[in-house]
Amino acid sequence: MPAPLRLGLAGLGTVGVGVVQIVQRHADLIAARAGRPVVITAVSARDRSKNRDADLSGYAWETDPVALARRDDVDVFIEVMGGHDGPAKASTEAALAAGKDVVTANKALLAHHGHALALAAESAGRVIRFEAAVAGGIPVIKALTEGLAANRIKRVMGVMNGTCNYILTRMQNAGLPYETVFEEARQLGYLEADPNLDVGGIDAGHKLSLLSAIAFGTQVSFDHVELEGIGNVSIDDINHAAEMGYRIKLLGVAQETGRGLEQRMTPCLVPADSPLGQLQGGTNMVVLEGDAVGQIVLRGAGAGSGPTASAVMADVLDIARGIRLPVFGQPAATLRAPVPAKSATPAPYYLRMALLDKPGALAKIATCLGEAGISIDQMRQINQPGEADDNAVVIFVTHKAAPADIAHAQSQFPATGVLVGQAVAIRIEAV
Ligand code: NAP
Ligand code: HSE
Repeated sequence: MPAPLRLGLAGLGTVGVGVVQIVQRHADLIAARAGRPVVITAVSARDRSKNRDADLSGYAWETDPVALARRDDVDVFIEVMGGHDGPAKASTEAALAAGKDVVTANKALLAHHGHALALAAESAGRVIRFEAAVAGGIPVIKALTEGLAANRIKRVMGVMNGTCNYILTRMQNAGLPYETVFEEARQLGYLEADPNLDVGGIDAGHKLSLLSAIAFGTQVSFDHVELEGIGNVSIDDINHAAEMGYRIKLLGVAQETGRGLEQRMTPCLVPADSPLGQLQGGTNMVVLEGDAVGQIVLRGAGAGSGPTASAVMADVLDIARGIRLPVFGQPAATLRAPVPAKSATPAPYYLRMALLDKPGALAKIATCLGEAGISIDQMRQINQPGEADDNAVVIFVTHKAAPADIAHAQSQFPATGVLVGQAVAIRIEAV
């Protein structure tokens, strides 16, 4: 029997315990498929006395994950602690320097340091694998780096944060305001320790930046992802969008345009009958578009112990089988520095605003739009409960407009003297 592949596991939380359970439950199946046994030799977490849902008695314990990464009886270092600096970064660097391969679920670490780590790994002849870092159990990294390797990727899109999709679909289905559902999500334990990572779009932006690097052969550039969270999405907009045949999603889009690389993670309206529009609850969906293959839709659990550990172990099996690919699908030294697009591709927009219900009010707003070069496609006046009797709520759907023109028109609305409060603008994405 060939020598076992020996794992050092740093992190024994949701994902780490899931990894232990799969290694123990499927030892025979994994050995058969990998052609050699896969065993855990040592583990690390902060609190050794904590009760965990796994038998750790056969494993050495290291309090310091850097020491774990350097152990002679570890071939592959699995980093499932989290955090983009601190122990996650130090131990990953230590593992590479000590000649170990690395598997990680940590999108924050790679979004911030992915290029430097990939250069370090490849110059040391090591691999870093991160299937679990994007969309949990969905094999999207494998799809991009292997299944679609011969395609020029035209666009990557997706709903990549389950918590945000849970909040938005729950608001819609139960007719509840954001604040109430946010609190529900907190009670259910869905939110990250820093909730802004979820609802601020940061976690999903990290994931998009990793997909974008593979898809377009560019260095990871999370700093250039346009980010907007879901905190300002109101139940009114969700309901109006639904009446018009749309759903509101926190949607990631990455594409190369004539103006540069566009990466954005923002709330968008998508058609209700599209696969993305129909996505419910905490599920993730990634849509990949290649010039030869057309559109591929991947859907599944984006988080949770089993799905995420499944992805970690898929990477481990590849290493056990001797599959060694560049971290981002091509040698890191050949990845181009991205040229970020200064603004997003023009799109139709949904605009909602309350106006004083008096003669000429609509005309003044329409003039602002016209002067900004924006053409109106549809307009409707809504009878909105709770709105003062002398106000009218109006919704415009524009023809394709540049984001800068929409922003300019919005900046002109207050001077009309007919706008009440603020106008809301949400992009409508063709998916
Ligand atoms: P978690 O439940 O909070 O577990 C983190 C683990 O890391 C804990 O066992 C903790 O030890 C350990 N740890 C933290 N700091 C440490 C340190 N300085 N030294 C040693 N151990 C340390 O986190 P998780 O949900 O499993 O997530 C782990 C990683 O996977 C993160 O990067 C996350 O973004 C990513 N991920 C998670 C999911 C998911 O569904 N949870 C999905 C995809 C990706 P103690 O237990 O002793 O406190
Ligand atoms: N907070 C993340 C989510 C966990 O809600 O999708 C998985 O990355």
